[in-house]
Formats: sequence, structure tokens, C-alpha cells
Amino acid sequence: MHFSGLKNQIQMINKSIIHGFSRLTKEHKIEIVAARLKDPEQFIEEIRNYCHPDPEIQQKFEEFSENTLANYFMPYGVAPNFLINNRNYIVPMVVEESSVVAAASNSAKLWFEHGGFHSRVLSMVKLGHVYFTWRGNKDLLLKKTSGINKFLIDNTAHLTGNMKKRGGGITHIEIIDMTGELENMFQLKASFNTADSMGANFINSCLEEFSVLLPQYLFQHNIITEENQFQVIMSILSNYTPDCLVECYVECDVSAFDGLYSNLTGNEFARKFEQAIKIAQVDSYRAATHNKGIFNGIDAVALATGNDFRAIEACGHAYASREGKYQSLTDIVLSGNQFRYTLKIPLAMGTVGGLTKNHPLAKRSLEILGNPGAGELMEIAAATGLANNFSAIRSLITSGIQKGHMKMHLNNILNFLKATHEEKEKLANYFANRTVSFREVKRYLENLRSG
Ligand code: MEV
Repeated sequence: MHFSGLKNQIQMINKSIIHGFSRLTKEHKIEIVAARLKDPEQFIEEIRNYCHPDPEIQQKFEEFSENTLANYFMPYGVAPNFLINNRNYIVPMVVEESSVVAAASNSAKLWFEHGGFHSRVLSMVKLGHVYFTWRGNKDLLLKKTSGINKFLIDNTAHLTGNMKKRGGGITHIEIIDMTGELENMFQLKASFNTADSMGANFINSCLEEFSVLLPQYLFQHNIITEENQFQVIMSILSNYTPDCLVECYVECDVSAFDGLYSNLTGNEFARKFEQAIKIAQVDSYRAATHNKGIFNGIDAVALATGNDFRAIEACGHAYASREGKYQSLTDIVLSGNQFRYTLKIPLAMGTVGGLTKNHPLAKRSLEILGNPGAGELMEIAAATGLANNFSAIRSLITSGIQKGHMKMHLNNILNFLKATHEEKEKLANYFANRTVSFREVKRYLENLRSG
């Protein structure tokens, strides 16, 4: 590609709206983007380097999204020693933040020695809605629609056949009056069992079909009598699935913490830990950070297994606000010497469909986990979230988090400064008990290099 020849033309394009960008060739798209940078040639070279050498594999990745220029690398790691329900897992994690995998691994190892994580699915209901306005007799609509459940289920059999074979399907449908909040507004609320899939496409297809069938039913039963009495506003699944719930806990005698934290007895550690959790239960500012630490683990498992981490996060945060105030997703019971720490969280995850088998590493992640079903994956993800959160609280109430973070941070700075393996070792020793800052690391490295 001769970049310079195109530069003027592209600079003109930069000033106006780009029509038909998606239809341009990949090379052309790269040129347009490169023209906005100070070092276009280098950008083009970098973009090439981040594409897979096998064109077939590259194409597969490109087709996951649109206007793809290259691949964006994230570290793919594993946290070993996760004993969950008496099964020993190595948990794949994709995360860019240093120390998340280390924190999960440390926690997993500690709890391995105390019975591991006890994780269980409480329910697996997914939800979706058709929102519509109704300008007629409200009672007529609500009373005369008792047969709607069967009508909609029977008339969507062509969509639900395969899901039924896998043990899923539509489980319940009802009409809910929303007119107290929005004039003339109602919703058709549908519950689904999507077996081992996340089920987004399945649910949305059913809902869009319901939105066509619903007025048919209302006409057939003489409920709609006038034009403009009824209008579908939209049909969409809900990412808030409070009944797709998993609970995970760890438990031990407080003496298990004896000797682990130099200036605290096991009992003192447990009491301080309890205080930290209570803060996250009453203070939303702390709760957001506390829950973020849980999602460090859950999102990493979601990404590694090709699950939708945005949906999972949205749901978790909505659930954390279910009592009208944003709170911690974990709870602690310290009764006598017994320490029990629990995470309860809705996690709509899948192990079939979507990216789960299409992304080669997502497929591998599921293999590493022993090809779990959706429920087992929910249990694993919850355990990983709890592990990360436990590690975070443990650090916060003992050494603080900067000590651990800074070790990783030092490594990032050293990579940026292109330190050799030998230099890294020397600096790791030097900064073992010193505060890490970019300026200090750079200064020390320069001194070292200048002898
Ligand atoms: C950092 O990614 C996560 C923590 O801030 C979580 C917490 O404060 O509990 C350490």
C-alpha cells in the first residue's frame, strides 16, 4: 500500500462525514484511521503485526465484529487450585489489570486448605418483555388475557422446538400493568429457561414473535375494538435476571487465620474483615469499589469463556441496588469462632451458543474447566469473584493493596523502559521495600545503565 499517495485524499475525507465506511476494504479503513495519527506508517505496521498470520483465523476474528482493523490482545491466564464443591479447577481468566490473577490464585490456594468454595445455583430464570400501550378498558385487557399464555406458547413452537429438546423453553407469560408509572403502558413479561445457552437470540426471537401474536390474540377475542388502541413499543430481553442466581461461600474457624497476618491474631483478622464488609453494606461509595473487586474475577472468567461481561455487570449492579440503595454483594456471618463469607449474585452465563464455541480460546477455556454446563459455570464464576474479593479485603485490612499492585506496576514500568531480565531482577530487589514511582524507577535504571 502506498500510503503517501493517498494522504491528501484521506485528509479531505477526514473533514467530512465518512459514508459507506463499512463497505471499504480493510486496507482503506486502516489508511483513513492512520491519516489521523502523527505516525501513520508505523501505525499501519503495528496493525499488521497484530493480525493473525493465518488469514483464515484472522477472518474468523474479524467477523466477530465490524470494521475490524486488527486484534486487540489481552492476557489469557489461569488461576490454579480452585476447589469448588470438592472439584479441583484451573480457572481461565482474561484480564488486563495486574494482580487480579495473582489475587484469585492466592485466595484459591488459601481456601483449598479450608474446604474450598461451596457454590450452588439457586435458580436459572431469564426474562424478557414486550412493552405496549393500551388505550382501552384496562380490566378487559387484564382479565380477558388468561388464555394468552397457551396461545403464545403454542404459536411459537417453531422457535422453541430445539430449546425444548435441550430442556429449556418458555416457562411463564403474564401481562403487567405499568400505568401507575407510565400512562397507558403495559408489559408482557415472559420467563424462559435457556438450558446451557445464554439464550439472548432465543429470547429476543420469541419476544418479537409475541409482539406480532399479541395483537392477533386481542383482535380474535374482541379485546381490540378500535384503531390506535394498541401499539407495541419494543420487545427485548432483560439483562436484569434476579432469579438466575448463584450463591457461593467459604467457611472456616477463625483460628485458620492465625499467624497469616503478622500483627493480627486470626480472631482479630476476622473481626476487622467483618467491619470492612459492614462498611460496604452501608456505604454505596465503598460498595461500588467492593463489588468492582468481585467483578475483577467474574468478568475475567466471562471473557475467557466467551460470555457477555457487560450483561453480567449490568445485572450484578442492578441486583446490588435491589433494596433501593446500592450495597455490597457479599455478606459475612461471624458466629463464635466460625467465619462464613458469602457472595450471592445473579449470573446469566452460557456454555453453548454465542462465542463460547466459536472463539478458539473460549472453547479451550471450557475444556480446561471440564466442559461445564451453564449452572456449573455460574458456580465457578461466583467462586472466582468471591476469591478476588476476599484477596482484596485481606490486603486492604492488612498491608494495603499498593504493595502487591506496585510489584506488578514495577514490572509494567520496566517493560515500558525496555529493561533486560537482569535489570528487572536488580530493580525488583531494590524496590522490594521501597515505594515504586515511574520517576524513581527510571532514575535508578538510568544510574544502573550508566554504571
Ligand atoms: C482493584 O481492582 C479492586 C479493589 O479496589 C477492590 C476493593 O477495594 O475491594 C482492590
